[in-house]
Amino acid sequence: MSQNTFNPYRVFWPLVRLLDPEKAHGLAVRALEMGLMPSPCPIDDKVLKVQLWGMDFPNPVGLAAGFDKDARVHGQMLAQGFGFVEVGSITPRPQPGNPKPRLFRLERDQAVINRMGFNSEGHDASIARLQNRDRGRGIVGVNLGKNKDTEDAAADYEIGARNFGTLADFMVINISSPNTPGLRALQGPEPLRELLSRTKAALAEATTACRTPALLLKIAPDLTDEDKADIAHVSQDIGIDGLIVTNTTIERPDTLRSAHRGEGGGLSGRPLFEASTRVLGEMYAATGGKMALVGVGGIEDGHGAYEKILAGASLVELYSAMIYHGPALAMRVNRELALLLKADGFASVQDAIGQKAPKI
Ligand SMILES: Cc1cc2nc3c(=O)[nH]c(=O)nc-3n(C[C@H](O)[C@H](O)[C@H](O)COP(=O)(O)O)c2cc1C
Repeated sequence: MSQNTFNPYRVFWPLVRLLDPEKAHGLAVRALEMGLMPSPCPIDDKVLKVQLWGMDFPNPVGLAAGFDKDARVHGQMLAQGFGFVEVGSITPRPQPGNPKPRLFRLERDQAVINRMGFNSEGHDASIARLQNRDRGRGIVGVNLGKNKDTEDAAADYEIGARNFGTLADFMVINISSPNTPGLRALQGPEPLRELLSRTKAALAEATTACRTPALLLKIAPDLTDEDKADIAHVSQDIGIDGLIVTNTTIERPDTLRSAHRGEGGGLSGRPLFEASTRVLGEMYAATGGKMALVGVGGIEDGHGAYEKILAGASLVELYSAMIYHGPALAMRVNRELALLLKADGFASVQDAIGQKAPKI
């Protein structure tokens, strides 16, 4: 489903697709920093507004982690129509990430494979940028990663909680990227319990009770039923505020057609939609609908965002489809989502959450 509004990105696409994907991304960030991307008029529709974690989201469509890794263009992306922006993943110390090439477009599949490996300028660079932000411009979350050579992983997330506790509107513990050796093992029940409780305690110490940002955990789509049940149990037991479902997948569906389908790393975009939406519904059921969920994976239009909300998401995020459609996608998804909600008689996003989730 798409509306026939003019999208300037379409004019540039034949050029963009000739560029190395990481170079194209760097240019896009630079253009945004220089103010070269015109911002649309903000969408103001009460059906799209979401109240969550004590904050008012103008719409439920956020920018997923990985686009603005070093917190350079969160303000500009909010101005593109995203209801919130998640910056990161940010590691405590700067690190280069994996050798290039490490980002691949799978255009025929409307997908992406990345094995960036947490390339990050480190906490200090992002702290300086976030300290200067105008908090009135919109909601910005910080996604925390760990340095590749850190042995006590929880320590990196504790440092993140201390460094960004007063700067972020929400915080995300990312232990689901497939490109940092051993990271996903932290999703197991014992390491997860320790990680969540230590990070939560560090966050409480670094902030005042009335201004503590929401603490979320971002999970992988490639989990067993036992993993998912354990994550639901431990997250609720420790009392974090939500789950982001999901990161990229290490699976390679047979349907992939593009030349780069054999590259190693995490797959995102259209072929991830079904699997990530299934896990979202399962986590909604496993947490009894009591924990806020952010649905991400393969959203490319309003219909995809709506499906995630019906499966249990309070908010959604996207990244890969923006590589093919440009930042105007945020507005398009919102316009289409508003129409779909109204067509089904929902007065708000809140009313639609989990309406098609598996039975609790
Ligand atoms: C190039 C690239 C880099 C990413 N980097 C991160 C990251 O640093 N941290 C993270 O939590 N997720 C990262 N992701 C995952 C996305 O945030 C998202 O969970 C995933 O791509 C699925 O959404 P999508 O299909 O809309 O892209 C990255 C994805 C891509 C494509």
